[in-house]
Amino acid sequence: MENRQNEVTMDRPEAKKVIFSGVQPSGMLTIGNYLGSIKNWPALQDDYRCLYCVVDLHAITVRQEPAELRRRTYETLALYMAAGLDPERNILFVQSHVPAHAELAWVLNCYTMFGELSRMTQFKDKSRKYATNINAGLFTYPSLMAADILLYQTDLVPVGQDQMQHIELTRDVAVRFNQVYGETFRIPDGFVPKAGAKIMSLAEPEKKMSKSDSNKNASVYILDGRDEIVRKFKRAVTDSDTVVCRGENKGGINNLMTIYAAFTGKTDGEIEREFEGRGYGDFKLAVGETVADALAPVQERFRALMADKGYLESVMKDGSAKAFAMARKTLSKVYRKVGFTQPKV
Ligand code: TYM
Repeated sequence: MENRQNEVTMDRPEAKKVIFSGVQPSGMLTIGNYLGSIKNWPALQDDYRCLYCVVDLHAITVRQEPAELRRRTYETLALYMAAGLDPERNILFVQSHVPAHAELAWVLNCYTMFGELSRMTQFKDKSRKYATNINAGLFTYPSLMAADILLYQTDLVPVGQDQMQHIELTRDVAVRFNQVYGETFRIPDGFVPKAGAKIMSLAEPEKKMSKSDSNKNASVYILDGRDEIVRKFKRAVTDSDTVVCRGENKGGINNLMTIYAAFTGKTDGEIEREFEGRGYGDFKLAVGETVADALAPVQERFRALMADKGYLESVMKDGSAKAFAMARKTLSKVYRKVGFTQPKV
């Protein structure tokens, strides 16, 4: 989508466009997270100024076990790098290390409407799922996500389909703020991958695959072992047809075709020809083995990175220092515009 407002009014000295995205360290990452986001990020690292954040502030909108949250924060950062993100060419950091995220989120909360937040599908889904803990953070979560994105004058936000509604809201809030105070934020665009923007559950193909699903057979985790991956695909729910092709009421097969296409780059036609005259059993096995083969090198790099916590901490520290400097510029501009005093020290 063309973004004329940015082109015309918001010059930036650096030539590269800015990319921002993040993952919550709220559970083991699934192949949905991988295909919808992380896998696609390394290809962007030379042409864009990229920031990737482990969004721990978001994670506590749902109760987390503290030790587990800490461990998953390291793991998520390690997975970013294991998937191919080079900390020299990207800014990799943890959200709670850069206080400007929480600070800008507060300001944006005051420019985000109750009605807008009430319409968020993710809020409605999570309120049903965590009915005894519908806290204010869960409700205002999109303002924090808007802060994440707008702090860095982001141009593009690579995400899975489920986050597009939050990005639309981010744009609305940014436009509203700019209308009141003059050009302050760039208006970001979200973009989703061609294959893998919405990976479905293996147990209930009408539902999104999710890292918080209590049924461990519904999701394939990036760190699952080879046998586990093959077993889960063998058990994947399909239908009573036998022909490997897309179709209505073939949610399970459609999903397996999407996964296979995303990992192999094959088209639907190529997949159909490959499995012509062979049953679902053969296809499921092939998908399982392909996914396991593709994830094996990621898992190996992940294990090496996790063995060196000192290195991970140095990446976090370096990333947050760089992010901090960029974020401060936007935050002080916002503070000045809304009328906060900023005495020189
Ligand atoms: P999270 O942690 O739920 O998911 C991380 C990324 O994975 C994508 N994703 C999927 N893609 C395809 N199929 C699936 N089944 C699937 N499940 C998840 C998500 O779309 C996302 O790209 N609010 C965000 C994190 C966030 C963020 C941000 C993202 C916070 N601030 C700023 C971008 C920019 C979230 O909860 O993602």
